[in-house]
Parts: sequence; structure tokens; C-alpha cells
Amino acid sequence: MSCDYVALANSGVQQLKPYQAGKPIEELERELGICNIIKLASNENPLGPSPKAIAAIQQELAELTRYPDSNGHQLKQAISRNFDLDPAQITLGNGSNDLLELITRTFLNSTNEAVYSEFAFVVYPLVVQAVGAKSVVAPAKEFGHNLQAISEAISDKTRLIFIANPNNPTGTVIAKDELCAFLDSIPADILVVLDEAYSEYAMDDAMPNGLALVKHYPNLIVTRTFSKAYGLAALRVGFAVSNPVITDLLNRVRQPFNVNSFAMAAAVACLNDTDYLAQTVALNAQGMQQLTKGIQQMGLGYIPSKANFITIDMGEDALPIYQKLLHEGVIVRPLGVYNLPNHLRVTIGTESENTRFLLALKKVIQC
Ligand SMILES: Cc1ncc(COP(=O)(O)O)c(C=O)c1O
Repeated sequence: MSCDYVALANSGVQQLKPYQAGKPIEELERELGICNIIKLASNENPLGPSPKAIAAIQQELAELTRYPDSNGHQLKQAISRNFDLDPAQITLGNGSNDLLELITRTFLNSTNEAVYSEFAFVVYPLVVQAVGAKSVVAPAKEFGHNLQAISEAISDKTRLIFIANPNNPTGTVIAKDELCAFLDSIPADILVVLDEAYSEYAMDDAMPNGLALVKHYPNLIVTRTFSKAYGLAALRVGFAVSNPVITDLLNRVRQPFNVNSFAMAAAVACLNDTDYLAQTVALNAQGMQQLTKGIQQMGLGYIPSKANFITIDMGEDALPIYQKLLHEGVIVRPLGVYNLPNHLRVTIGTESENTRFLLALKKVIQC
């Protein structure tokens, strides 16, 4: 007896293409039998973890048999102290991807729509489609979000708008004035999700701090992550900040133990390790200079980025270049899935990783 199980799945799920993550180092080792590989493909922190985070995890090991605190009291306290928030505004997530999914499951269904920009983070279409809602894609301006186009894409079915600031995969940003004017114009029954996964790299006076804006905009939900500048990608922990009514709704949908004890302990430790964050941001700024200089010297174009990665225009199909780089032991990210087939996204690494990438790139584009 056979059955068409695909036909049994929810219609949005039938059309879903799974998320393609950056290639893991171990996978490339297995495939090519090479070692000494560097991965600059997933916008991870090249510094390695904060020693304080490691110590916090070691201390937590004795509690391995216990369920985590499902309300994440300690971490919410630490977040609220650090960012001047009320714990009732905070929802914890298994990475910020978990929160993006939670928000869509809470507010979207097959009768309504989400708007986001062309070249927006690839998880937005995935989570929207999974719940059977419709995605409306607004055209980008010079690879960045065009808030005017996003406004024009709103219909009476729009329930959510996703904006990443800085955006992945382009690294482009929206200034505070522009964002606030946009938020002022959005009706209160349309929720704006401001995804600030890379905000720590782009802290300057012209940039909005979404966490401070939540008290002015009851329809704003800001997501942050510990995966990037805080260096905890493996642990999966992030948080959303919103008005307490929305927070309550998100917590009704949230799995009770979605964030594990080690992740929460390490996240608290990272919030207390301001030196680590400062070092991370400084290393990124130096690496960004090193990479942009090297890219310019090769005569290649790139999208100016405020995040911890840079997207390079290879001027030709970038997939063969990506594959040749793999043979040099360098993993970066091809962007065909973002409809940017000529571009490669490269995470800013340590100085030696950046040098290695530039040498490998020079070699493969010359042969
Ligand atoms: C814009 C953006 N948002 C959210 C995420 C999700 O990160 P995490 O689930 O690790 O918090 C990423 C990860 O690459 C991202 O680039």
C-alpha cells in the first residue's frame, strides 16, 4: 500500500524548499579529504567564545538532569537590566529564527500576508510559506530595503512586515530618521518585525536602536540574537522585545523549554562580558577594512556593509568560484538562493583568515 504523503502535507509545506545552511567544515573535510579549512559562510564570530560563557556552561553542567527554567528568569533579568526593558516585554527563542517562526505562527494564516524586501533574509519566506500565508516582496533600492516600496506593497491583508537592519545578505542599513518616519506611517494593526541580528556591529548615532523604539510603537517587535556578536551560534539563543500583550501571545505559542540551560547561562555571562563585545566589534571593523581593500585591489565590486560580512560582486556566475574556493579550503556563501547569482557573501574573519580568503580568491579568479 502506498500513499502520496506529500499531498497530505499542508499546502504551504508542499512547496517549501529547505533552508540551506553554510557548508560545515566537517562536511568539506569528508567530501574533499582536505584539512586546515576556514569557514566564512555563516556570519559567526571569529574570536571564538567568551571565556566567561565557557565558565558559565561548565558551572551549569551539574544541572544536566533538570529541565531548563521555562520562563528564563535569570536571562530575562539580565536582558532587561542591560537594555533597560521590562521582563514582561521579552520572549526568549531558540535562536532568533525560532522567534521569527513563533511570530508568524502567532499572527499569520492562509488569509493574510507578510511584506518584506527583495534580498531579505531567506528565513522570512520559509516561515511565511510554512503557515500558508502569502509573501509580498517589495523591490529593493541599490540592494537595500526601500521603505517606500514596502509601504506601497501593503494591502488590507497585510499583517506582518519584516525588516532586517542591518540586512542579511546585503549588509545595508536604514537610518533612524527614515525608520521612525516609516513606523509612524504604519497602521497599528500591522506588526513590524525589526530583525536586529547584526545591530551590535552597526551602533552609531544615525542608527536606530530598535529596543528603545518598542515603547513608542506598540506594533513593533524587535528580534536580537546571541549567535553573532556574542559568539554563541551553537547554543541557539535569541530574544524578542515587544509590548507585553504581544509578548504574552508569543509565549502562548512558544514551546515551554525552547531555550536550554547552557544557552541561557552563557547568554547571561556574555551580557556581562563587555570587553568581549568591544573586541568583537573592533576586530570586525579592522577585518572589514582589510577585506574591502583587498577586494578593491582585485578590481571587484561589493555592497558596502555595516554587518560582519561583505557581499562581493564577482561580475560573473559566482557558483564556480565558490566551488574552486572550496578546493582551496575556504567556505563562503553563494547567493543564488537570494537571486544574486553573481555575488558571494563572505563573513569577516580574523586577520589571518581574511588574508587566506583574499589569496585564495585571487588565485581562483586568475586561473
Ligand atoms: C538577518 C538574520 N536574522 C536572523 C538570523 C537567525 O540567527 P539565529 O537563529 O542564529 O539567532 C540570521 C542568521 O543568519 C540573520 O542573518
